[in-house]
Amino acid sequence: MSSAEETNADQVAFWNGQGGQTWVKRQHHTDTTLTPVNEALLAFAGAQPGERVLDVGCGCGAVTLDLARAVGPEGRVTGLDISGPMLAEGAARAAAAGIANVDWREADAASVELDEFDLLTSAFGVMFFGDPVAAFSHMRAAASPDARMALVCWRPLAENPWIEVPMSAVTPHLPPRSKGAPNSPGMFGFAGPDHVTGILTAAGWTAPKFEPLDVALDIAAGNGLDAAVEQSTQIGAVNSWLRGQPDEVAAASVASIRAALEPYADGDHVRLPGAMWLISSTPA
Ligand SMILES: C[S@@+](CC[C@H](N)C(=O)[O-])C[C@H]1O[C@@H](n2cnc3c(N)ncnc32)[C@H](O)[C@@H]1O
Repeated sequence: MSSAEETNADQVAFWNGQGGQTWVKRQHHTDTTLTPVNEALLAFAGAQPGERVLDVGCGCGAVTLDLARAVGPEGRVTGLDISGPMLAEGAARAAAAGIANVDWREADAASVELDEFDLLTSAFGVMFFGDPVAAFSHMRAAASPDARMALVCWRPLAENPWIEVPMSAVTPHLPPRSKGAPNSPGMFGFAGPDHVTGILTAAGWTAPKFEPLDVALDIAAGNGLDAAVEQSTQIGAVNSWLRGQPDEVAAASVASIRAALEPYADGDHVRLPGAMWLISSTPA
């Protein structure tokens, strides 16, 4: 198996296993934290009535459902993801909201059979590809001639205290974390503009534009400090780092996260800076 295939297989296992289940369980909290980001992406993407949208790595569908509303009954959205449980959650939410113009498709962005689309969107769903040039080339082949792309991705860890603060808090308690090669697939895989430009231009897209998006993220989702601590340990890098640690190490880590987040608590909110790129491009 090539390293790209191995990465993709690991991703399928993670997003269909405990990782995906946790995202489903915490979907309401996560969507609340990310509401300002999702709104910014929607405005940036500017989906129009009647358009055909491909939403990549759509997860539980927070942005997908808003895109479906924006394109209206004459338009269609394909919500593409490798996670069965997250897609099922998205489909259930669509049904509950009476939204019928979404095709929920469980497949890999690099190999899925695609219909032509006018707009490619993704909220934090494109940085995990084992072979990103192959995936973006594949999607480029289905783009209409005047299609556009609108993505939101994290800038580097150091610019994202909402996750850097909890990670620093647990560092003294845990064995050193393998950092991975720079630009390797993962949460911060699209943090570097030169790296992203290299991928997209090699895949047949124009050199992308990068617009910084800075948002104070309420990681408590309005539910107080304990909820912020819980979210920090359940989702993302701290969660994978804590997995398999003895109870006393986990307890000490949680106490340190609580102490580190306390200064940011403001009533029921715990807001820390989040730094992202809004990335746009078109077929070259
Ligand atoms: C961080 S989650 C974001 C989910 C959603 N867009 C949101 O903002 O809540 C990343 C998503 O990308 C999906 N994903 C990862 N690799 C993928 C691939 N090769 N093709 C399609 N989706 C993929 C995962 O299953 C997961 O749902």
